[in-house]
Amino acid sequence: MKTIKDIDLSGKRVLTRVDVNVPLDEHNNIADDTRIRAVLPTINYALDENAKVIIASHMGRPKGKVDSKFSLAPVAKRLSRLLKKEVNFAPDCVGPEVTSMVQDMQAGDVLLLENLRFHPEEQANDDSFAKELASLCDVYVNDAFAVAHRKNASVVAITKHAPVCVAGFLLKNELNYFTQAMENPARPLVAIIGGAKVSDKLGAMENLLNRADKLLIGGAMANTFLKCVDYEVGESLVENGLLWDARSLMKTATKRGIGFYIPVDAVVADRFDKDAETKIVPIQEVPEKWLIMDIGPATSLLYSEVLYGAKTIVWNGPMGVFEMDAFSRGTSSIVNHVANSYALTIAGGGSTDVAIYRAGESHRITYISTGGGAFLDLLEGKTLPAVAALEEAGEPA
Ligand code: 3PG
Ligand code: MG
Repeated sequence: MKTIKDIDLSGKRVLTRVDVNVPLDEHNNIADDTRIRAVLPTINYALDENAKVIIASHMGRPKGKVDSKFSLAPVAKRLSRLLKKEVNFAPDCVGPEVTSMVQDMQAGDVLLLENLRFHPEEQANDDSFAKELASLCDVYVNDAFAVAHRKNASVVAITKHAPVCVAGFLLKNELNYFTQAMENPARPLVAIIGGAKVSDKLGAMENLLNRADKLLIGGAMANTFLKCVDYEVGESLVENGLLWDARSLMKTATKRGIGFYIPVDAVVADRFDKDAETKIVPIQEVPEKWLIMDIGPATSLLYSEVLYGAKTIVWNGPMGVFEMDAFSRGTSSIVNHVANSYALTIAGGGSTDVAIYRAGESHRITYISTGGGAFLDLLEGKTLPAVAALEEAGEPA
């Protein structure tokens, strides 16, 4: 896959597709600008090379209609501050006004286009919309890893129309780190899988059973595994329809000699509430009518022993309801164990990044993915449509 470094950008109109789909608070302030900072290297590089930098992104899910709640205007402001230069903001992403704004650009200018998803054609992967976008540029750069699992016009169809298509630094980095961890890992490779539902992670777990040496399970999804080997889990969330699948995954792990770890104790609560009554119990003693809300200290210690022996760690999903202080300890202790390990450590998807930033350990994790769904699709062993399209475009006809 060609990157932005392999081509000449000087004086060119460079359309850079990024994913700056950042969380906003109730006053439309950016709550976390990680995804904006993550694409600065690509934008700065293009500016250093004297390009005219046109930036496109989606924001939220406006369902194909203009909706000011999902405007990229706050991103234009933040980007301007981070780049320490003026960022012009276009009122749309295609159309005559945008075309003329692009025509007026000088080398070294930055223009941010309004939300791609204000047009239903974006998510329909519409070919003529993609062609219109492509007409804005001489070079198309995809640096939008977090949306690479979506078959959208600005990341898939556009590669058929843009004269030159290359990857930006973020996309390249994400794929490189992931490949390093999953394709040819230093072993043992330990995967930590958490989050609420087994149903979201079945594909990932099946793929991991072909690659990892050990699996550590946490979060509410662990309940289904506990139940399938006959532990009582009280009123905890269980996916009863998946008990057979859960049992079958555990049997496959045993057959293949893969360590499959489920919690040995838990923090339980008498109701799903931050102020609930809580206690720590061995997994054999979950009271009837109570709920498992987090892994307990014995599980954390057990998992830490596994993690200290790891050479590669891949992590997706929290160990408990970490958004509530009373049930955040399990997840934050795993953050610490991962940070303290001697392994190459990769984390992503399903609030894992949030948990790591909250624990203040982001600088001690090798790589934190900006992707949610895209990271999970990679874990499942899927090919990302945007990556496939970019690779295809880069091949000689
Ligand atoms: C994300 O945050 O998951 C990406 O920006 C993709 O957005 P989507 O899930 O709305 O397609
Ligand atoms: Mg998503």
